[in-house]
Formats: sequence, C-alpha cells, structure tokens
Amino acid sequence: MLIHSASQLLTLAGGPQRGRDLGRLGILEDGGVLVRQGKITAVAKSAELLAAYPDEPSISAHGKVVMPGFVDPHTHLVWAGDRAAEFELRLQGKTYMEIMASGGGIVSTVRATRQASIEALLAQTRERARRMLQYGTTTAEAKTGYGLEVQTELKQLEVLLRLDAEGPLEICPTFLGAHAIPPEYRDDPQAYTHLVWEEMLPAVQRWWASHAPGRHLPFVDVFCETGAFSLEQSRAILEQARRLGFPLKIHADEFDNLGGAALAVELGATSADHLVKTSPEEWRALAKSDTVAVALPCTPFGLAEAHYPPVRPFLEADGLLAIATDLNPGTAWCENMQFAIALACRYLHLTPAQAIAAATINAAAALGMSDRVGSLEVGKQADLVVLSVADYRHLGYRFGGNLVERVIKRGEVVV
Ligand code: NIG
Ligand code: FE
Repeated sequence: MLIHSASQLLTLAGGPQRGRDLGRLGILEDGGVLVRQGKITAVAKSAELLAAYPDEPSISAHGKVVMPGFVDPHTHLVWAGDRAAEFELRLQGKTYMEIMASGGGIVSTVRATRQASIEALLAQTRERARRMLQYGTTTAEAKTGYGLEVQTELKQLEVLLRLDAEGPLEICPTFLGAHAIPPEYRDDPQAYTHLVWEEMLPAVQRWWASHAPGRHLPFVDVFCETGAFSLEQSRAILEQARRLGFPLKIHADEFDNLGGAALAVELGATSADHLVKTSPEEWRALAKSDTVAVALPCTPFGLAEAHYPPVRPFLEADGLLAIATDLNPGTAWCENMQFAIALACRYLHLTPAQAIAAATINAAAALGMSDRVGSLEVGKQADLVVLSVADYRHLGYRFGGNLVERVIKRGEVVV
C-alpha cells in the first residue's frame, strides 16, 4: 500500500530526541510512504513513489498530515467501574490524598476490579482501547495495580495480553502490584511490601513464562508516594524486580517528593513518571541519565491543580522527555494523546513539534520500543495516522476534538 501526497509527512526519523534536539519532525512535504507486510519499506516524495510503484493500491493524503501513530507510555487501562462520585467530592473541596486516606481512591477501584469477572473487565477495557485507537494511539503501555493480590493482578495481566493479541492496539504491560496498600494490609503496609517482592514478583515471573513464552518481561512500576510506598519500600521492590530481570518504571513526585526520581536514575529505570515535585538537583541527574522523564499533563489538569512539571530546564540540560495520558479512573480519564499534546503546549511550554516528538519517538523510548515504533522509517512497523489538517501545528492548537481521520496499524487500515 502506498500513502501519498501528504501536505506534511512527519517522519520523526533519527531516533529519540534529547534536550534541545526535541521537536525534529523530519518533515517531508508532498511526502509518501510505502508499506509492505506491515512494515515501512520506503519513505520519499510522492512523485518518486508514484512513479516507482504505479500499480500499488494507494491512499491519497492530499491536504493532510501523515505521521507516526501516537505511543502512550503511561496508562492504567485495565480497571472496572468508575469514580464519578469521587470527582464530585473533589469539586466540593476534598483532596485526592484525603479521599485515599479515608479508604476511597485507588482502593475503591480495587474493590470493583476484584469483583469483576474477566469477561466484564475485558469488555470495559476493550472499549477504552478502542477509543485510544480512534484518537490515533497505536501502541500503549498499560499497568495492573487494581488487584493488589496475586490472583487479580494476574487477571489484569491476562486481560492485557488478550487485548494485545486481539489488536489492533498494541499493548505493553506493566506490573504495578505496588500501586496502593490494599485494605486487608492497612495496619501493616510493610507486610504488603514484603508480599510484593517476596511472592508477587516471582509469581508474575512464573505466570509470564507460561502465558507469554519468549516475550520479554513486563515492566515493574511502584507508586513511590506518601500514603502509598516509601522510598525504602520502593527501593526494596524495584531492586528485587531488577534482580529478577524486569525492566523498571516509577511513579515519582506526583504529590510529595520522596526521592523517587533519584532512585530511578540510580537503578537505571527505563522511565520516571509524573515528576511534579521533583527538585532541580534530581532533574539534573535525570537529564544526565538514560531514564526517560514522562510528564503527565492530564493529571494536574484532571485534579484541577496548578502545578505542572517544569520541563524546560530539563530540556536545556539535555534530558529525554516523553508525554503520556496517565489514563486512569481517579485523576485522568482521558484516552486522547491529542489532548495531552494540547496541555503540554500550554502548561509544559512545549511547541507543537516538541510535544509531537514527546508523544511518538520519545514515548516509544519510554517503553524501550524506539527501534520498532514511534517514527516513519524504513524497516519500522507501519503504524501511522492521517490527520484531517494540512499543518501539524493544529495538534496542540486545537483541542477537545479529534483530528485523526485514519489509523493504520501494522499496515492495516483499522480506523
Ligand atoms: O498515576 N498515582 C497513582 N496512580 C494514578 C492514579 C490512579 C487512581 O487514582 O486510580 C496516577 O495518577
Ligand atoms: Fe499513573
């Protein structure tokens, strides 16, 4: 298949973009891309491709932007129920942390997720995955963490593997057993921490070997936060995960700074996410490392909070930045990376080009997948979107809608 005549073909070629390099879109005007067997086999000016492949089935993208599908590198895709009542409480003045401390928040989604049958969980999750795809996301990370017991955490992983196999959205799973202290361990959080590293991690490893043989292990993530897991507990879990061969992520400095960002650098985590309360020293350490900083602008927006991660100095210091939705039922029910881009332009002070690179090639780097997805280059997976606009800057500039007109995943038109 040949997709040709794009007003702007954004290739994002050349690998992940650090620091001041962020925003190199690699624009090819009147560009085209040739797709064979799910992969990109040529990227060139339309005239050249049309002349070389005159009989190829083709799609004209005249007057439209063609670019890589979005990669959403931080979501809590798989849960049951909703927390609309909690949203209303927050509007009346209760904080997220107060609701969590009084037994609501994550734990209320845990109750609903434990009760849900695997079919119910699949159906609710599939609906969100479908919406992500319609908004142009072709690959997404997805965390467990609403089970907080072996059986339900594995049920969440199973839903993720089944949806990934169903497609078309490609899912990169993360085990987040350390998302909250479950109600039955409320009086002994340390015992739960122990359970995570002593029993749950090896159980996940064994389960994975039999359910996803040959596939590399999922990420292990920890919510390092007041009221969730302390720095010491986070370290114990992540060190054990690393010993077992899991790649690492961390929720750091969302509400309080406990030192999670520095821990991510020390342990060589693939990414450190949130980073609202990160100190300037920790930002500098992150910038010098290969750990990707993942900013989640939908989260402060969802919580109606004024603070967003200060990423500009981080870029000046040559750091590697990605953005994600943080899709979850508590703080940010948003399936739309275009909205994350619009917020990133306004509150992270990124240009549309920078936000687009952070949502594609750098987001792929935050999943260790930048050799396969996130850009339009020969040999890469043919995951791309056609926008209904001629100028890429409409991403960011316009918000609240959907500029994605067509989605192609592994060479197939899926939307
Ligand atoms: O990334 N911070 C922890 N996890 C989510 C919130 C999850 C929830 O409230 O259900 C987050 O914001
Ligand atoms: Fe999160």
